[in-house]
Amino acid sequence: MKEIDWANLSFGYMKTDYNVRINFRNGKWGELEVSSEEHLTLHMAATCLHYGQEAFEGLKAFRGKDGKVRIFRLEENAARLQSTCQGILMAELSTDRFKEAILKVVKLNERFIPPYESGASLYIRPLLIGTSAQVGVHPATEYMFVVFVSPVGPYFKGGFSTNPYVIIREFDRAAPHGTGTYKIGGNYAASLRANKKAHDLGYSCEFYLDAKEKKYIDECGAANFFGIKDNTYITPLSSSILPSITNKSLMQLAEDMGMKVERRPVPEEELATFEEAGACGTAAVISPIQRIDDLEKDKSYVISKDGKPGPICTKLYNKLRDIQYGDAPDTHGWVTIVE
Ligand SMILES: Cc1ncc(COP(=O)(O)O)c(C=O)c1O
Repeated sequence: MKEIDWANLSFGYMKTDYNVRINFRNGKWGELEVSSEEHLTLHMAATCLHYGQEAFEGLKAFRGKDGKVRIFRLEENAARLQSTCQGILMAELSTDRFKEAILKVVKLNERFIPPYESGASLYIRPLLIGTSAQVGVHPATEYMFVVFVSPVGPYFKGGFSTNPYVIIREFDRAAPHGTGTYKIGGNYAASLRANKKAHDLGYSCEFYLDAKEKKYIDECGAANFFGIKDNTYITPLSSSILPSITNKSLMQLAEDMGMKVERRPVPEEELATFEEAGACGTAAVISPIQRIDDLEKDKSYVISKDGKPGPICTKLYNKLRDIQYGDAPDTHGWVTIVE
């Protein structure tokens, strides 16, 4: 086996030893199957290929200083996948079956879990797709649940740092009461042009405003947004953003730190008032924001005056990472230890 260069992993796909699968046929989920085949055999008329019956999740396993492997908020990802399945009429997988599959695939690929010292982790990617053949627009009768894993590098290679972001007004990711709250492939297809534009302009990522009024902050790329001011953690309440599990965890940690937490619409102009702000998600935990530009309005909201992450973002980031790696007690029961 070729040695893995743990220190230089990127956020990409690496072939591992096994993936796991469960098929839904005749109205029920079958047995868990273990496979070392990277490809799927699909019917060309499968609903996932034509009508977007495709859901996915993203979570991570971390190896601690004590050698133990911890999976972060497994049950929350199971619940979000169930919500997504309800949203696009797919067969729901129970939390127990989700857990069974995740634990199995992590154990089978144990040698791919990065060592504690590397700051890297094992990314876990579950997906659930409609597989039965159909030409009319209807939900499938058969589904497949697949989970693969890939070791991924630490998000901040040169250390925790701030980045510039840009509001893209030209393209919307999701409509109010559309599919934005579900983790389905279609939302990501809809985000590609805005994301490319932001990158082409030299920004770290794109910001979306609410699609109806273009007045309120929705989210940024594949992350939720939060702002900090007056000892308060403020994050958008919107019917078109993904309920981020990282954001939910940070709200709890902010509360534990004695901060107030507000979930409410956040008007764009309010960006000028934040002492700190961040993008949050599984990939980065927190990506602190240096500034957010609105090119069409010729505005630049500079959040970090000295270009460094603020003290509250840093504290929240360290608190969450410490729980994930087992360096701090798991007081909220967020971690599943792989036995
Ligand atoms: C659109 C979008 N928003 C937010 C998030 C952050 O969610 P989480 O913290 O559960 O990773 C993600 C990533 O999953 C995402 O794709």
